[in-house]
Amino acid sequence: MKSLASLLLALPLAVAVPTTPRSSPPTPNGIVSMPLRKVVGPQTNTASGARRMALMKPATANKAALSSAASGPPRQSLIDRNEYYLADFAIGTPPQPVSLLVDTGAWVTWVNPFCDRALRQQECSELPVYNMSLSNPPPTPVHALDQIVYYGDVSIGASLEGYSDVFTWGNSTSVKQSFGVANDTVGISTGILALGPDGFDGFNSAVSNFSVVANLAAQNVIASRVFSLAFGRGLAVASWAAAQHVGHLVFGGVDRNLFKGPLVKSPILPRDANVDGWRYWLAVTEVRLNKPAGNSTGVKSMRSMSTTSTVVPSGNASYMIDSGTTGVYVPRSAYDIILAETNMTRNPLRYEGFPDVDCSMADQPGSLSFTFAPTKEAAAANRTGITIDVPYKAFIHPERNLITNDTSMCFFALSSGGPAYDDGDAFPILGVEFFKAAYAVFDWDNQEISLAQGASCGNGETDLVPVGKTPNAVPNVNGNCK
Ligand SMILES: *[C@@H]1O[C@H](CO)[C@@H](O)[C@H](O)[C@H]1NC(C)=O
Ligand SMILES: *[C@@H]1O[C@H](CO)[C@@H](O)[C@H](O)[C@H]1NC(C)=O
Ligand SMILES: *[C@@H]1O[C@H](CO)[C@@H](O)[C@H](O)[C@H]1NC(C)=O
Ligand SMILES: *[C@@H]1O[C@H](CO)[C@@H](O)[C@H](O)[C@H]1NC(C)=O
Ligand SMILES: *[C@@H]1O[C@H](CO)[C@@H](O)[C@H](O)[C@H]1NC(C)=O
Ligand SMILES: *[C@@H]1O[C@H](CO)[C@@H](O)[C@H](O)[C@H]1NC(C)=O
Ligand SMILES: *[C@@H]1O[C@H](CO)[C@@H](O)[C@H](O)[C@H]1NC(C)=O
Ligand SMILES: *[C@@H]1O[C@H](CO)[C@@H](O)[C@H](O)[C@H]1NC(C)=O
Ligand SMILES: *[C@@H]1O[C@H](CO)[C@@H](O)[C@H](O)[C@H]1NC(C)=O
Repeated sequence: MKSLASLLLALPLAVAVPTTPRSSPPTPNGIVSMPLRKVVGPQTNTASGARRMALMKPATANKAALSSAASGPPRQSLIDRNEYYLADFAIGTPPQPVSLLVDTGAWVTWVNPFCDRALRQQECSELPVYNMSLSNPPPTPVHALDQIVYYGDVSIGASLEGYSDVFTWGNSTSVKQSFGVANDTVGISTGILALGPDGFDGFNSAVSNFSVVANLAAQNVIASRVFSLAFGRGLAVASWAAAQHVGHLVFGGVDRNLFKGPLVKSPILPRDANVDGWRYWLAVTEVRLNKPAGNSTGVKSMRSMSTTSTVVPSGNASYMIDSGTTGVYVPRSAYDIILAETNMTRNPLRYEGFPDVDCSMADQPGSLSFTFAPTKEAAAANRTGITIDVPYKAFIHPERNLITNDTSMCFFALSSGGPAYDDGDAFPILGVEFFKAAYAVFDWDNQEISLAQGASCGNGETDLVPVGKTPNAVPNVNGNCK
């Protein structure tokens, strides 16, 4: 597939392309594996996420629209995008490259945003466009997919016409796939690779068959509806800064070179009646703040220092697992406690209130850790759920303080949701930062997410283990990393 490779090489320079692509042993059957590119957007616009998120709640959304599924689809989740990850693959015959944002909070995959009305025009116009008239045989219409999709707010959305054409994943797997082609968009600057459950019908395979995950399984490319996701790593380099330029997406398997310790299952919670549609929800039973211990002032010596760990009361809740959101959103009272304990304050100029911090905080050993509910079987055997440690450095984003223009200032992507003057109105979310710290395996058939502490090892090669098609199909393997 020379043509595809050269097209991919022609991608814009503005988005970071991994300098050392993961070379790997042959991919086992039943697995589709691909690297992801990280994109860091410009300063967040104030017309941003939290308000859209609030609108996703039935209490504040248009009730009349929500009462009729046909006239009012649930809002898909995609909240702020200071940092996001793109999957590169191809559509059509011959394959045309596309780069789509990897979003576990959405369920309609689509291409071709209109860049003149994008909030971020430059990012938008640098991405490749799918031209269906260049595909032969031509794509066939799929009118069941004709629709308008919204991302939390009517100011961010896309008007889509459904088609079916060949998707080429990696450079070998080609399958017919239904997807949307935008005929109009507002606000949004990328197309979406939607990995979430169907907004109306969840994991019901009879109706969620348009999804990429369900389609790959239906066409026997993968054994069951499973995919794995890791952000912020994938290169065998010691430096965090270099490693954070890539992520990894695997359909039908897990990559043991991207985590350490065991993969532990946690049940996906049923649809939350307080939110307008199905999403991935996990029960977090405990949140801990692990603060750097001691009183050293030298950043260097902080590295080797230990932490003191305390439970954050009221941090436990149901959290949405959303790779399309920048930030971790904890319940309001937990947020206030964490800010007080870490001496951070909301920045009222940011809609999410993300606090400004000194960028050197990334060198400190602190973290927030999240413990997830075990499965019923594990609980019956008195096993506890897994704890994922999200280090301070995963939360820290390079962005100037809006007033001082001080380049040593970063922001800490932790919020309770709402705007500074009216917060506490959002639900808890584990966004991009969580995927930088965890390895997450989404299993639709068993409605479980398996989690392990993320890591990166194996000299940049993959060590892929296929997932079968049974209860407990996700293997009880340990990661290869130390
Ligand atoms: C799509 O390809 C056709 C045929 O080459 C061309 O005429 C048309 O301008 C292209 N459309 C876009 C939007 O590039
Ligand atoms: C664009 O797509 C929408 C939603 O499918 C459809 O209703 C509309 O007719 C399309 N507009 C044009 C100009 O094709
Ligand atoms: C593409 O496929 C060839 C042959 O299977 C393989 O050697 C090569 O590594 C693949 N390239 C990528 C980027 O996956
Ligand atoms: C998806 O499932 C529905 C309901 O079973 C069926 O009517 C439709 O043809 C299926 N679509 C595709 C693309 O397989
Ligand atoms: C560090 O803490 C110790 C014990 O709490 C205290 O005695 C010492 O003065 C502190 N040093 C500094 C530089 O604050
Ligand atoms: C959080 O934990 C407390 C104390 O164990 C418990 O009372 C409360 O019900 C829990 N809340 C949630 C949302 O799980
Ligand atoms: C907390 O932050 C304020 C303002 O940034 C600073 O003046 C103060 O010294 C800090 N306190 C501690 C205990 O670090
Ligand atoms: C689990 O713990 C409970 C209470 O400590 C005990 O009664 C029960 O036997 C334990 N079950 C197993 C399978 O160890
Ligand atoms: C902020 O920093 C940028 C980049 O160094 C500089 O071009 C700009 O003039 C600065 N703005 C202010 C208000 O100081």
